[in-house]
Amino acid sequence: MNKQEIILSENLEQSLQQAINQIPHDKLFILTDEYTHRLCLPLIQEFAFLKEAKNITIGATDTHKTLETLAFVWKRLGDEGATRHSLLINLGGGMVTDLGGFAASTFKRGIAYINIPTTLLAMVDASVGGKTGINFNGLKNEIGVFSPAHSVLLDTRFLQTLDYQNLASGYAEMLKHGLISNTAHWAELLQFDLQQTDLKLLQTFVAKSVRIKEQIVEQDPKEQGIRKALNLGHTVGHAFESLALTENRPHLHGYAVAWGLVCELYLSHIKTGFPKDKLQQTIRFIRENYGTFVFDCKHYDKLYDFMTHDKKNTAGIINFTLLGEVGDIRINQTADKKEIENMLDFYRETMGC
Ligand code: GLY
Repeated sequence: MNKQEIILSENLEQSLQQAINQIPHDKLFILTDEYTHRLCLPLIQEFAFLKEAKNITIGATDTHKTLETLAFVWKRLGDEGATRHSLLINLGGGMVTDLGGFAASTFKRGIAYINIPTTLLAMVDASVGGKTGINFNGLKNEIGVFSPAHSVLLDTRFLQTLDYQNLASGYAEMLKHGLISNTAHWAELLQFDLQQTDLKLLQTFVAKSVRIKEQIVEQDPKEQGIRKALNLGHTVGHAFESLALTENRPHLHGYAVAWGLVCELYLSHIKTGFPKDKLQQTIRFIRENYGTFVFDCKHYDKLYDFMTHDKKNTAGIINFTLLGEVGDIRINQTADKKEIENMLDFYRETMGC
């Protein structure tokens, strides 16, 4: 897989021009959703080198991450005369960068694309690492390819317009990156005041966070081994997300990951010796900033079922990434049904539900 260039932008106009200049192209396209069309496109639309760019706008939120939307983007590219040498700029959150990346990677067998993520979650996770795709047949990210953007431009100015929930959601993935990296970074993340965000400090954390993900993806782009570290918190997190969806009380992805971290750090404590004090400190931060996901023991079978059917598992064995310490990653760990029930009991007792 090609390496993607991650640019921490201080001057979006300059960085984007440099990124575009590196990619010979005939036509330029900008993909936005209805929110980023309104809120973010005006920040780049006036750049002289984008005057001729054609805009494609799709519906916002995960419900539009569909085959129909993908076909719409392919059609617009075709109708506007895009060729194999055209260039697509994805301006938006993870839905836009995932779907736009997939559209670009498949149109005429692949055209180059640049990601400009506009949410914290997309900056530190979705837009980096080459995973692209759409939801299909009721399953999230069921169809897609590994195909990295040529460049990813990170400009934290976009974060000024984000609400608390979206900031917190992205921050959960940063916390995960802290846990799989080193104690100093994990500790500084827990000190951060999420309610009164210091954007300058957040920017330095974003840079560290992306570097952590980048280093892991470089070693294992197609998730055969160490990239599974990035799944910490996600086996249980996805089950919480799915349960919430079926009960019509959806939660932002990062919230489910934060609650998933509580469970999987507990499992790490029991099974791989993750220290109790660090477990408690991390839980305190999550409880204070994310509240709790409410469920009771009647939901255990359903949650267990969701975990069993996670696409990262094989042969019905639930695969976890656990930690022996901050930064001591143990991939391919398993737990039986009893251990998972104990974990859910612990969650409810500790998180007060
Ligand atoms: N979101 C986890 C990964 O990119 O592997």
